[in-house]
Amino acid sequence: MKTVAVVGTQWGDEGKGKIVDMLAADADVVVRFQGGNNAAHTLVVGGKKFVLRLVPAGALHPGKACVIGNGLVVNPIALLGEIAELKRSGHLADDSLFKISYDAHMVMPYHLAIDRAREARAGKRAIGTTGFGIGPAYEDKMARVGLRFEDLLDFKFFEEKLRRNIVEKNAYLKALLKTKPIKADETIDAMKKARRRLLPYLCDTGAFVSDAIDSGKRVLFEGAHGTMLDIDHGTYPYVTSSSCVASSVFSGTGIGPGNLEAVLGISKGYTTRVGAGPFPSEFSGYLADSLREEGDEFGSATGRPRRIGWFDAVLARYTARVNGMWALALTKLDVLTGIDPVKICVGYVVKGKRYDDMPPSHRMLINAKPIFEEMPGWSESPAGARMLAELPSSVRRYVERISELVGVPIAMIGVGKEREATIVVRNPFAD
Ligand code: GDP
Ligand code: IMO
Ligand code: MG
Repeated sequence: MKTVAVVGTQWGDEGKGKIVDMLAADADVVVRFQGGNNAAHTLVVGGKKFVLRLVPAGALHPGKACVIGNGLVVNPIALLGEIAELKRSGHLADDSLFKISYDAHMVMPYHLAIDRAREARAGKRAIGTTGFGIGPAYEDKMARVGLRFEDLLDFKFFEEKLRRNIVEKNAYLKALLKTKPIKADETIDAMKKARRRLLPYLCDTGAFVSDAIDSGKRVLFEGAHGTMLDIDHGTYPYVTSSSCVASSVFSGTGIGPGNLEAVLGISKGYTTRVGAGPFPSEFSGYLADSLREEGDEFGSATGRPRRIGWFDAVLARYTARVNGMWALALTKLDVLTGIDPVKICVGYVVKGKRYDDMPPSHRMLINAKPIFEEMPGWSESPAGARMLAELPSSVRRYVERISELVGVPIAMIGVGKEREATIVVRNPFAD
C-alpha cells in the first residue's frame, strides 16, 4: 500500500511518534493533518530523545518531505523554535522539503491567554487542557475570524485583522476572564519577524500531497491525540478541539477518501490519559505508580503525570470501527513485564446493565464499572525481541487475545523506546 494513516486509538500518547518515525523510512512524504502543539510525539533515535509537537515525525529521516496540512492550528513562534532546534541537530537541512499549508490557522497569544484563564476559572470543571490555546484557535477558525498562513502574504491585511481580533479578545479577557490583555504592538512585531522565516515554507499542500500520490509516492499521514479525544467521537467535553480520527485526513489535507489505503491504529498494551474525564479501566495505587515510572508516563507536552488503566477492549473495538482500522500496533509491552496477572477490560456495567460494546452515550462512561478478564503476566522482558518467535509465550498470548477481542490483526508490537525496538508483523507499505 502507498497511503497510510497512523491514528491514536486511546486518549493520546499511544506511541504514534515512534511508529511514524519507523514507517517514515519507507515513505516519501509525511503529513500532519490536525491538532497543534498540544501533540507531543517522542522519538528515540541513536539514544537521543526528540519531542516533536508540530513538525511531522518524518523529520529525522533525510530526504523526506514533511507537510503541515490545512487542518492544523499552528503556533508560528513555537513552530519556528522547533524547526531551529531540529536544524541544530542536523535535521530538516533542506528547506524545500518542509511545507506549510496556506490554509492552516495560526495560534495567537490571545488564544493561549483565553485557554489558560478559562481553565483557571473552571475549577473542578476544568478539562485539563495543555494550555496551548488550541480550543480557542479552532473556535476562531469556525467563527471565520482566524488568521491563516495565507494572510501573511499581505502583511498590512494581516496586521489589520490581527489588531481587530486583539481588540475583541482583550475586551473578553479583561471583562469576563478578569485577566491581563494582550499587547498588540508586541504581537505584531513578533509576527513581522516570524513572517520572513515562514513565507518560504508556504505551499498549496493539498496539490502537493495529491501530486505525490498521483506520481506513485508513498505518503504517511500522522495523526495526533487519540480517538477518545476526538471532538465528535471522544469523551466530550473532555476532548481536544479537533477531529482526530482517520476521516479528518481528508478535510485536513485536501485529498479525497479514495486516496487512503490503510489506517493503522496505535494503542498501548495498557491505557493512559492526561487531563480530566471518564476512564473506565483506570486504576490507582502502587501498581499504577510503578507502571507510571516504568513506562515514563508523564506528559511530554506539560510534564503532568498520566493516569493509568488496563487495556480496554471495548474502547479499542469502538475506535477500530470509527477509524475503519486495517490493523493495530500495540506499544509498550515491555512496560508490563513483572505484572501478574495482567487485565483486559472486556465490558462495562452501567447502572446495573452490562455493555459489551461502547454504551450509546459517552456520559455513561462516567459511571461505568469495568469487567476484567485476567491473563497470566510475564517475568521475562520482551525488550530484546525483534521477531514474533522471540517473544515470551505469555506476551504472544496477550497480544493474540487483544487482536481477537478487537477484531483486527496486530501489525506491530512495541518492546522499547528506540526506533528499532519494534516487532513488525506486517508493514503497511510492504503489503
Ligand atoms: P505519541 O503522542 O502517541 O507519539 O506518544 P508519546 O511520545 O507522547 O508517548 C509515548 C511514550 O512511550 C514516549 O516516551 C515513547 O518514547 C515511549 N514508547 C513508545 N513505544 C514504546 C515501547 O514500545 N516501549 C517503551 N518502553 N516505550 C515506548
Ligand atoms: P498526542 O498527539 C495526550 C488532552 C489534554 C486535555 C484535552 C484537551 O501527544 O497524543 P487541549 O490542549 O487539546 O485543548 O486539551 O486533550 N490532549 C492530549 N493528551 N496526548 C495528546 O497528544 C493530547 N492532546 C490533547 O491533556 O485533556
Ligand atoms: Mg504524546
